[in-house]
Amino acid sequence: MTENLTWHKTKISKVDRSKLNGHKAACLWFTGLSGSGKSTLAVELEAELYKMGIHTYILDGDNVRHGLNRGLTFSDEDREENIRRIGEVAKLFVDAGIIVLSAFISPFKKDREQVRSLLGKNEFIEVFVNANLETCEARDPKGLYKKARKGEIKEFTGISSPYEEPENPEIIVNNGLNSDLQKNVSQIIDFLKTKEII
Ligand code: ADX
Repeated sequence: MTENLTWHKTKISKVDRSKLNGHKAACLWFTGLSGSGKSTLAVELEAELYKMGIHTYILDGDNVRHGLNRGLTFSDEDREENIRRIGEVAKLFVDAGIIVLSAFISPFKKDREQVRSLLGKNEFIEVFVNANLETCEARDPKGLYKKARKGEIKEFTGISSPYEEPENPEIIVNNGLNSDLQKNVSQIIDFLKTKEII
């Protein structure tokens, strides 16, 4: 399908863009159950990075499914396609010199590894937002667990669809009850500094 296409080289590279920006590009890939706190953490982290003069962009499940991925369901196949497209978008943003904060349940290990393989070494940072089902269900910020238990939503992650925990994530954020949002934000900022991304 790509046989008659030619890749155009550009004059400005990712390295040039990172020089201009004063930081490297990367994709922080937040994964975890619905209600684990992925979006909350991404939003707070982005605000903190903004204050530091860092260029960021959030890709979020609920938002992207309103636009680019409208029409995709929650079947295994559509979740795979959801993550495949987001992976490609994240790759473009990384090429543009941005720190991408991507917050999707992304329940399947192989789909997350596929995104990892699209990006360069040290560019894919898997962040496991770890809150168990009991905690997420108790929070139930959108009332979806209640509906899923009543059988009103099919294939709901953690109830009637699987979630595969990461085996070797770069970062594990413990986001159970009584977790401290600012502490979790600092944990990620410290990681980015240690890796000399920012
Ligand atoms: S993913 O599995 O394909 O990565 P994604 O992160 O895009 O999921 O979307 C998850 C969000 O969609 C949840 O936070 C929730 O608000 C909503 N949602 C609606 N139906 C489902 C479902 N069956 N399973 C999980 N989340 C659902």
